[in-house]
Amino acid sequence: MKRVLFVCLGNICRSPTAEGVFWHAVEEAGLNRHISVDSCGVGDWHVGKAPDSRAQVAALQRGIDISHLRARQLSASDFLEFDYVLGMDRDNLEAMRALQPSTSRAHVGLLLDFADLPDAEVPDPYYGGDEGFEHVLNLIEAASTGLIAQLRNDGLRNDRL
Ligand code: 4NP
Repeated sequence: MKRVLFVCLGNICRSPTAEGVFWHAVEEAGLNRHISVDSCGVGDWHVGKAPDSRAQVAALQRGIDISHLRARQLSASDFLEFDYVLGMDRDNLEAMRALQPSTSRAHVGLLLDFADLPDAEVPDPYYGGDEGFEHVLNLIEAASTGLIAQLRNDGLRNDRL
């Protein structure tokens, strides 16, 4: 089993969208018994809340329901439990690295490292319009394909996936 954790600032816009979109891609690839997915935020402001309604609507328009997700905060133990801990932007990554225990062997990086795109970061859509949420979905969909390819490659090397 490969475990993937998506991280953003609040865990109400980008990372729950990534959790929903990537899980959909995992199911379509028939890998749901081999990959698990979760998301969290580096901040605690929105803990316990459902995703932002704009993120819910945008995902649902692509057939992905994220209404059941609830925000939680990143903790040091996440770096021991997950194989991939993937941030949305460089600020997230800096906060993540500050929490990563020295004993953690998790791959800690940016989600868009797995996309063949010029963009390095998934920008925060919280203070913008609906088009920001569409952009977030497009970026995450592109990276999901690459991330599944990476996990398949890991699994082949470990004879597990
Ligand atoms: P997220 O977006 O990090 O993609 O969940 C944000 C949500 C809330 C805030 C900032 C970003 N906020 O400042 O409350």
